[in-house]
Amino acid sequence: MSNVAAIILAAGKGTRMKSGLVKVMHRVVDKPMISYSVRAAKAVGAGRLAVVVGHQAQTVRDFFSSDETIVFALQEEQLGTGHAAACARTALEDFSGTVLILCGDVPLLKSETVGAMLENHEKRGAVVTVLTTHLENPFGYGRVVKREGGRISRIVEEKDATPEEREIDEINSGIYCVSAEFLFKALAGLKCDNAQGEYYLTDIVKIAAQESRLCLAFPTDDPTEVMGVNDRVQLAEVSTIMRSRINRGLMLSGTTMIDPAATYIEEGVSIGADTIIHPNVHITGSTVIGTGCIIEQGASIRDSVIGDRVTIKAGSVAEESRIGDEASIGPMAHLRPGTRLGEHVKIGNFVETKKITMGRGSKASHLTYLGDAEIGADVNIGCGTITCNYDGVNKHKTVIGDNVFVGSDVQLVAPVTVGSNSLIAAGTTVTIDVPPDSLAIARTAQVNKVDWVKNRLVKG
Ligand code: UD1
Ligand code: CA
Repeated sequence: MSNVAAIILAAGKGTRMKSGLVKVMHRVVDKPMISYSVRAAKAVGAGRLAVVVGHQAQTVRDFFSSDETIVFALQEEQLGTGHAAACARTALEDFSGTVLILCGDVPLLKSETVGAMLENHEKRGAVVTVLTTHLENPFGYGRVVKREGGRISRIVEEKDATPEEREIDEINSGIYCVSAEFLFKALAGLKCDNAQGEYYLTDIVKIAAQESRLCLAFPTDDPTEVMGVNDRVQLAEVSTIMRSRINRGLMLSGTTMIDPAATYIEEGVSIGADTIIHPNVHITGSTVIGTGCIIEQGASIRDSVIGDRVTIKAGSVAEESRIGDEASIGPMAHLRPGTRLGEHVKIGNFVETKKITMGRGSKASHLTYLGDAEIGADVNIGCGTITCNYDGVNKHKTVIGDNVFVGSDVQLVAPVTVGSNSLIAAGTTVTIDVPPDSLAIARTAQVNKVDWVKNRLVKG
């Protein structure tokens, strides 16, 4: 394929979104919708990318600030799609080859489709190719007026169309391949003598036809691919389709989803075969999940690495955590960033962890806070244990050796170390280090006042 550059139109405000945020920055699944267009352009080999910005230009620029392949072109006033494309002229100065024009609000477009369109455009030696589709209800779209042999003579907008033209069901997707040499010359000749008083990009088709140059329609048979987002209803529809594409890919590679429509997984998440995902689970970021895991309903997992045969029970949250093979988490556990759990670890109901390591086979089964701690292997953390890691100014560390038994309702006032094989009696507040193989007990001796209650009642 020859040289390819892309123009992405993204200057419009998106009035129908009724939003304080420019339309192209609204997210579809996890990414602003414009990033899908940028990605599609790159996937077909566009080496230079001109993004036309206008409304909230800085917000769009900031999002792509680390991407050096993108050049921004400012369209100060939104005078129409043709005017917007013309604004990219300087950014693509001295470029010769094919210019791919995409809209920033059409995120479902597949790079395979764009690639096929480009190939056809170049093979046929066309000057303009328009990606089109047939719609049952073409209302609102530009209609493709054809001559014989797939050649098109013009595109007419809904507002400018005659009743006969409105009957045409082949619509303009707003996605084009245009030869660079022709594009900027044609754009310079656009007029705004139409119902909206705008410079229409679509008029380049008419200009090409008048010059008897080859102008083609390239129809796609999947109309969902070219769905544009104009309002929040469409945003939700497009997001649903995007999610189902992600889920489908995972299911085809071996993940079971009990209810895919209620499973929220971001692109880039990796899940091993035979893992079962229950409904209303959210898995996001750079998460990697191994094989044979069970992720129960309502779990939320972000940027975490989970081994094989792990169970994450209902309502648990894991963030930036690592979980070893065959561990069991929850229900209702919260693993906060920096949690590192070994194989066969058990974290039970209402346990919160943060910045801890826990060795193989250790357990914290109920109602516990473990923060800034290094815990060895085969340790039992009793119900209600708290690492008191914060003195109001600084965080301090708790270190627990292997095979320690921590009884229920123990407070470990950090910094503190408990040697291996030790036992902390229930109800103990540990304030000094415990040597290995020792019993630590710190609680006031119990006094039983026999018949005290009975006597009080008698006197009363
Ligand atoms: C456009 C097409 C129409 C097509 C439809 C497909 C024209 C004249 N019409 O209509 O044939 O069926 O897309 O969705 O091109 N933009 C700018 N600057 C502007 C105006 C628009 O950057 O001055 C950007 C918008 O941000 C958007 C894109 O261009 O990303 C399309 O603009 P929009 O106003 O939505 O065009 P439509 O009326 O939908
Ligand atoms: Ca539109």
